[in-house]
Amino acid sequence: MATEIEMDDVQGLILRGYNYPNIRYIIMNIRDVAGAQKFCADLAPDSGAAGLFVTTAEPWDDKPPYCLNIGFTYAGLAKLITTANCNVVSLWSSAEVFGSYTTGSIGDAMQIGDTGASAPANWWKNGGWIAKEPPAADGSDLHIQITLFALTPETREEYYQQLLAMIPSAASGPAVVPVYFQDSDPIVVDDDDNYVHFGYRDSLSQPRIENLLWNKKSVRKLMGVSTIDDRPPVTADRFVISQTAPDYNAHPLLTNGTFAAFRLLYQDVPEFEKFINSDKHTSPELMAAKMCGRWRDGTPLVVSPDSEDKSLGKPTPDNYNFTNFNFLSHTTNQPGNRTSDTDGLRCPYASHIRRANPRDDINVAGNNDMAVTHRIMRRASPYGPPYRPGEEPGIQRGLVGLFIGAVLDFQFRFVTTKWLEMGGFRSPDVSPNQSGVDPLFGPQVADPDPTNDTIFAYNNNGTYNVTPGLTRFIRTDGSLYVFLPGIQGLVSISKGTIPPPNS
Ligand code: HEM
Repeated sequence: MATEIEMDDVQGLILRGYNYPNIRYIIMNIRDVAGAQKFCADLAPDSGAAGLFVTTAEPWDDKPPYCLNIGFTYAGLAKLITTANCNVVSLWSSAEVFGSYTTGSIGDAMQIGDTGASAPANWWKNGGWIAKEPPAADGSDLHIQITLFALTPETREEYYQQLLAMIPSAASGPAVVPVYFQDSDPIVVDDDDNYVHFGYRDSLSQPRIENLLWNKKSVRKLMGVSTIDDRPPVTADRFVISQTAPDYNAHPLLTNGTFAAFRLLYQDVPEFEKFINSDKHTSPELMAAKMCGRWRDGTPLVVSPDSEDKSLGKPTPDNYNFTNFNFLSHTTNQPGNRTSDTDGLRCPYASHIRRANPRDDINVAGNNDMAVTHRIMRRASPYGPPYRPGEEPGIQRGLVGLFIGAVLDFQFRFVTTKWLEMGGFRSPDVSPNQSGVDPLFGPQVADPDPTNDTIFAYNNNGTYNVTPGLTRFIRTDGSLYVFLPGIQGLVSISKGTIPPPNS
């Protein structure tokens, strides 16, 4: 029997979608270590300090007026607890848990495809940088990442000012200085505020975590909430670092914490629109659906291959019509005609959701457990104004936020490198380009050979429809690998110490 999750020691956003409309993603630089430690100490819940505090995963009766979560880059952690202590944590932890975090997202850029226009040399340049000096080329001055969730733009600003007021002064000025922030406000379509640029409904399929109070069948029944979520549960240790996880070791500093890739992903909507309108034989809506694996309103192609299906209802958190499906054999409560999509006739192998979560498709490399080892908790949201045809060029917009998993190497890094970006990710696959790359992202480096990554191929009644001109629609404009500590971990960090290895 798995142990209960210590909800009061886990940062809330790991386990629950807060669903707040107005978000500010902040990056800070540490100027004075003692002052930065005090700032962290004050942010811990129950610190008794005036100001804001970190939101835990404890259930709330009423929605609080703000939520706040904090993460540290390796450079930030090393400043706060010393490199020597980081080395101890590293020695005690499995390489998969701490290794790529230590490398950081700049060191990892080549491996995960942040090359060309997405290369680190170009990061943080497209709006949002507020420091006088540009960021250091090696990323060593980006230390703390804070996410502030608010109910209105006005309260977001209010709470941000309260956060700044918590920063202690040191001899040389503020101990911690915000260097970057990006606001995120909802894109509303038909009164639904969960859309992203490119026009898709997002926030549908998140991992269902085992043993989490509100995912337990008995509790859901008591609450009168539907119990028909067909998705396989994912053990909590994939998202909350545990001392009892079977496939990794973690130093106690990491207990109840997790890791995440903080990504700033620019979306080139005009190019995307051009591409989906470029095939005379396919409607732009069908092309967009085949690229994502869902119609733009969220209807899965597996469930309804020819059109959106309004009979699925509204995509609310308790409506599993949008998430109950598999690719090879249908799930218990799957709507639609429940035929297998083994050959990718409905939902292409290449499509974003099939690659990001191949579900029961065991013919995908590295997927022998319904993809549960590789699930990612997405806490990302749109930034920038919605696209308007004919707008002036150069408007910055995209998706920003955290892609969370206890083991970056099994989760964010695995999915990015092995599934999203690789041709031949499934076998057998007779499509003309071996599924190429995830078409929402497009090729990382323009490939002159059109049989490779620059075509999008999907099966249409047994023959492959091939559209050339796939280009990079999503560009990485910034990235940080961060550690989101448990509350006890945060308290240790604020003291500049680490707990003893066997605690
Ligand atoms: C600008 C970038 C991105 C856009 C526009 C985008 C868009 C979408 C959309 C529209 C969905 C369907 C809604 C849903 O199932 O909840 C989705 C699902 C998903 N995306 Fe992305 N995404 C982006 C980046 C990423 C990245 C970087 C990753 C991981 C490395 C990722 C992983 C996933 C996963 C795991 C799902 C759920 C699939 C499922 O469980 O069926 N996405 N995304």
